[in-house]
Amino acid sequence: MSDKAHINFNDQTYELPVIEGSENEKAIDISKLRGESGLITIDPGFKNTGSTKSEITFLDGEKGILRYRGYSIEDLAEKSSFIEVSYLLIYGDLPTPEQLSDFENEIKLHTLVHEDIKKILEGFPSNAHPMGVLSSLVTSLTAFYPKSLDPNRSAEAVDRSIIRILAKMPTFAAWAYKNEVGHPVNYPDNNLDYCSNFLKMMFSLPSENYDIDPVVANALDKLLILHADHEQNCSTSTVRIVGSSHASLYASISAGINALWGPLHGGANQAVIEMLENIKKDGGDTKKWMAKAKDKDDPFRLMGFGHRVYKNFDPRAKIIKKAADDVLEKLGVNDPILDIAKGLEEEALRDQYFVDRKLYPNVDFYSGIIYRALGIPVEMFTVMFAIGRLPGWIAQWKEMRENNEPIGRPRQVYTGHNVRPYPNK
Ligand code: MLT
Repeated sequence: MSDKAHINFNDQTYELPVIEGSENEKAIDISKLRGESGLITIDPGFKNTGSTKSEITFLDGEKGILRYRGYSIEDLAEKSSFIEVSYLLIYGDLPTPEQLSDFENEIKLHTLVHEDIKKILEGFPSNAHPMGVLSSLVTSLTAFYPKSLDPNRSAEAVDRSIIRILAKMPTFAAWAYKNEVGHPVNYPDNNLDYCSNFLKMMFSLPSENYDIDPVVANALDKLLILHADHEQNCSTSTVRIVGSSHASLYASISAGINALWGPLHGGANQAVIEMLENIKKDGGDTKKWMAKAKDKDDPFRLMGFGHRVYKNFDPRAKIIKKAADDVLEKLGVNDPILDIAKGLEEEALRDQYFVDRKLYPNVDFYSGIIYRALGIPVEMFTVMFAIGRLPGWIAQWKEMRENNEPIGRPRQVYTGHNVRPYPNK
């Protein structure tokens, strides 16, 4: 197998190295192409372009494989916990029981946020989307921890920043929700595990005891594991490129939150539920709506189907679909939109139109159904995705900084006006 590629252009041949990863992926290293040939490459959306080498997550879109630091998503979803997976992604190996205990205890020490954060929160109108509140509160950490602005400080200082944002993200998320519903915020309860503490901050009310349902807490923990990282997706690429300018971890994570907000990315789970709700309001005729999805003149777009990378199935969707069935059964929830979702899936897997276009349910298709069953409001679905993706963003930012990667600055091909004189007036 050659480790060289050749480009023939203008009667010249340029030889470029081909690198190979640990899973036999191959890439042409074009870092010297422009200097030697004057040529650049162009690839809108970077569909064929690698931005980095990474040891964190491997996925194979054709085979439906997803692994965090070599461990399969199936094993981790079944046997691990979100905090253990967070440690694995960030530090590279599964923690020993003592390391895990220390990590969990460190996080518990930092779940409380500065009281002045409430003044920032109170500045938002109650109809503010929780994702905008979340990214603002994360950015505010740069003000409360100004030393975190220097990402080149000691590893211990970076670890403190990592612990702080892992610990405070659920508090920020729950407070963003309370702001939206006009309820008083709840303070963290460090006697509880990560997911139970979040659920209690989200749903407990001053006048009532909130009983944690272990089915709900366990389902949430599994969902967060499934969302924890996904190699160089849009929001992770955003975190890396913002961090490549030596912006702080908090500034980089806030940028990632805003990238995830888009309906083509993390906002897809909210868009799926809104689509299913519309189909239900229209009578629930899935065949009618799948026909609309196939009609190129119809503006209806099927949300939660297909994926940029997975070509046959999204392994996370398989796990989430089973979890959705289990959770709804255990909670005794009979959600008609789950039936509509299954109807759409059956249509998509049966109809050659969708099979040919690789349009099968992805992670966003079923995650919204579970979040609904867990009582999480639809406008908080993307916030849940952000909580899950946080350790992946941290791990990728940390890897980029430790590898001392250069500032991200892509080239372009200019297609505008040629030089023209300023008019005499
Ligand atoms: C993700 O998990 O980030 C989404 O599936 C999008 C992607 O990987 O491109």
